[in-house]
Amino acid sequence: MTTYPVDAFTAPKGTYDLTPPDSATFLAVREALAAPLRRSGYGYIETPGFEHVELFSRGVGESTDIVTKEMYTLTTKGGTELALRPEGTASVLRAALERNLHKAGNLPVKLWYSGSYYRYERPQAGRYRHFSQVGAEAIGAEDPALDAELIILAVDAYRSLGLRDFRLLLNSLGDKECRPAYREALQGFLRGLDLDEDTRRRIEINPLRVLDDKREAVRKELVSAPALRDHLCEACKAYHERVRQLLTAAGVVFEDDEKLVRGLDYYTRTTFEFIHDGLGSQSAVGGGGRYDGLSEMIGGPALPSVGWALGVDRTVLALRAEGVELELPAATDVYAVPLGEAARDVLFDLVTALRRAGVAADFAFGGKGLKNAMKSANRSGARFALVAGERDLAEGVVQLKDLASGHQTPVSLDAVVEELRARRG
Ligand code: HAM
Repeated sequence: MTTYPVDAFTAPKGTYDLTPPDSATFLAVREALAAPLRRSGYGYIETPGFEHVELFSRGVGESTDIVTKEMYTLTTKGGTELALRPEGTASVLRAALERNLHKAGNLPVKLWYSGSYYRYERPQAGRYRHFSQVGAEAIGAEDPALDAELIILAVDAYRSLGLRDFRLLLNSLGDKECRPAYREALQGFLRGLDLDEDTRRRIEINPLRVLDDKREAVRKELVSAPALRDHLCEACKAYHERVRQLLTAAGVVFEDDEKLVRGLDYYTRTTFEFIHDGLGSQSAVGGGGRYDGLSEMIGGPALPSVGWALGVDRTVLALRAEGVELELPAATDVYAVPLGEAARDVLFDLVTALRRAGVAADFAFGGKGLKNAMKSANRSGARFALVAGERDLAEGVVQLKDLASGHQTPVSLDAVVEELRARRG
């Protein structure tokens, strides 16, 4: 007999199962995050859960933690190197290029997506190895109004859920004109500091990421680091100012954060992050920015683009932290309780007819007694129970019981579907 380690029957580290009733909240959050996009000209896109490793190493960046430490990679039996997707932007752009969406006429190509992403990170509250994002990408246009549109849509999505305690951090990372000079200035400054080996290496590969260091001692040393703001070229400055104006006009409050660098290398100009203060160290509930050079980095034409991804798991946690309960429609409106064999068949048919008429209905399966069946009816969240025994059927009626008031009335079998359809909602 094969024996399995106990671990084989538990969810892998850093993952969790979504089960009822919590899964209903999760679905509602996912829906709410996507809803503003669907009203704003974004079309749905779905890409594979895995891609060629190179897409991410080139797209997300060879020196990022995501690529160096956090990718789940595998070699297929045919020898192809694949990676479970750690993020969505590179995949969406790859798909848009491959399907020539950018040549179909309308730019920007506006796309939204929703799905699972995988990062081999150190698990902790709010940080998982398998997590869920709703994302949006607007491909092929350089227009500050597009950056503003996306940020406004994210704010509206969070607000529609009733979330209040989130902050928007905003920055500009410059472009290929002004960033190289800043990079050099920053490197010069950083090389003069007393830093550990790892960080020193980072100065040479990706000095902007050093600004992102969370350690208190390092942060102290960084206080007088040269600011990118002072190195932005005129075009980047004007662009950023326009984004800020548009956000202000839309009533969006933001904080300028010149240390906001983000963990992916493709960003240019506008970058932003949504922070929720009730979440502890994993406080970013969403983030994004402009990535004007990514298309060329993965072999496409110049296609300036902007996008974001909002974390579904963390948004659920943020709602919990604020004590927001979503008003979810009951999964079941009507619960049928048959008393006896003949009634089972009649009520089973009735449940089918109700469902076909658009009424959410469920049935006391498994031959439960009345008491147990009524318990199930109450647990189901239904407003009504339909109860019928032999005597009711002989009279051509079923008992319609209001589960909140306990009030019960006989309703003719012929009329019950119509009656419940009318009472719904
Ligand atoms: P990101 O900042 O890496 O950006 O991820 C976006 C959001 O996904 C985070 O703010 C967080 O809420 C959630 N998230 C990330 N990692 C985890 C994790 N390990 N556990 C739970 N939640 C997590 C991107 O992925 C970019 N592709 C966003 C983007 C789109 N930029 C331009 N377009």
